[in-house]
Amino acid sequence: MRGPPTATIFVAVPERPAVPFPADFLWGAATASYQIEGAAAEGGRGPSVWDDFSHTPGKVANGHTGDVACDHYHRVEDDVKMMVEMGLQAYRFSISWSRVLPEGRGRVNDEGVAFYSKLVDLLLDHGITPNATLFHWDLPSGLEAIDGFRNRDTASYFADYAALMVDALGDRVKMWATFNEPWCHAYLGHAAGVHAPGMRDPKAAVTVAHHEQLAHGLGVQAMRAERSDLQLGTVINPSNVRREGSPDADEDEMRTIDGIHNRWWFDPILKGEYPADLLDDLGPLADAIRPGDTAEIHQPLDWMGINYYYDILVRGVRADESSVNRMLAYPTVQNTTESDRRPVHTDMGWPITPEGFTNLLVRLHTDYDNLPPLYITENGCAYDDPIVDGRIADRRRIEYLDLHLRAVRDAIDQGVDVRGYFEWSLMDNFEWALGYDKRFGLVHIDFDTLERTPRDSAAWYRDVIKANEVPAVEG
Ligand code: FCB
Repeated sequence: MRGPPTATIFVAVPERPAVPFPADFLWGAATASYQIEGAAAEGGRGPSVWDDFSHTPGKVANGHTGDVACDHYHRVEDDVKMMVEMGLQAYRFSISWSRVLPEGRGRVNDEGVAFYSKLVDLLLDHGITPNATLFHWDLPSGLEAIDGFRNRDTASYFADYAALMVDALGDRVKMWATFNEPWCHAYLGHAAGVHAPGMRDPKAAVTVAHHEQLAHGLGVQAMRAERSDLQLGTVINPSNVRREGSPDADEDEMRTIDGIHNRWWFDPILKGEYPADLLDDLGPLADAIRPGDTAEIHQPLDWMGINYYYDILVRGVRADESSVNRMLAYPTVQNTTESDRRPVHTDMGWPITPEGFTNLLVRLHTDYDNLPPLYITENGCAYDDPIVDGRIADRRRIEYLDLHLRAVRDAIDQGVDVRGYFEWSLMDNFEWALGYDKRFGLVHIDFDTLERTPRDSAAWYRDVIKANEVPAVEG
């Protein structure tokens, strides 16, 4: 790979010293099955809700689908080589549930299991630690046909699937996450309707949010019953909820948003109870919770994954909104961020709030005295810089990563136990409802030819990993 770009490309940024990371800090990159694999109807894979959703006209930008994606399924050897060239020490990927269980339960597709087994062997051959996520939103259509996670039984099917994968890969994969950002599948998928399966029903969203939590707890128990040598965790996307630029933002609204987005996930897992104030807010919307459920969810974990992109900057709310309307409105709160008040934002329109990253990690450390070690399981940005003479000088991505890694280091200095960092993403991919135009990769993908071109950020990240430090930036 090419050498890193010179620091002088950053104009008007303050000088920053080099920042070393703790010894044994784990450096990696992340992807997810539906976003990269392609081969959607090959190798015995069954359909998922994301196949159905992306094939429904009007749901995904430009009618894009994950049919081919990065064709990672066929290019897995080359992609692992790419990771080796980047010096990755770890790779976070997700398993397509319907590739291994085409109907979501029952019949096992050995060819699908063999694909992940091959990936894991390739990683281990090159000294790259695998970190597998079981659910990154691509629920098998066969389970959606029985109401997906609206159906309590799906939590048990998830536990069966978790046990199956540990049985197949647990001799080699030690780091496992049950879920990725379960908030997104619940609320973007069932309240906002912008993710699969595309429902707009607040009660369904809360029901899914609970059954995902239950599935997490049952999954952890099933995996521990298979093997005792696993590092089990889950991946949440917490965020600060702030009123920046919006002095009128309502305290009560902000408390509710914080409850739905943050405390709903951490409290049952770490404290064994849902937040009482939020249960009051939700009332009958949370009827799916049964006595004893939180005890199932409250399982000891070896680690937790934090995905962080930006702070939720809340705008004032309309006074006439009832709590049910808030539930409906909430998922779109991202669209009401005051990003226009920030001088810079990414191609997603997301504000850049690295100071919030430190605050968030410190808050979790303060609020939960049994917080397990943390890994940053996703952090990154979408920018589409041009290829000029075969080179992509994505200095805004380098700047974003620099700022966020410094923020992580600040949190570590304040006592937070952060053990590793997985950049999102290894390569450009299917960015859900936004299709292929939002480019998050350290590696650029030409979606016509599927050619891979490492951006300057890939070389920069390689050097960060090698030195175990973020380099100095000249003023
Ligand atoms: C996260 C998702 C990941 C990717 C990034 C940009 O919410 O977990 O799949 O879409 O956002």
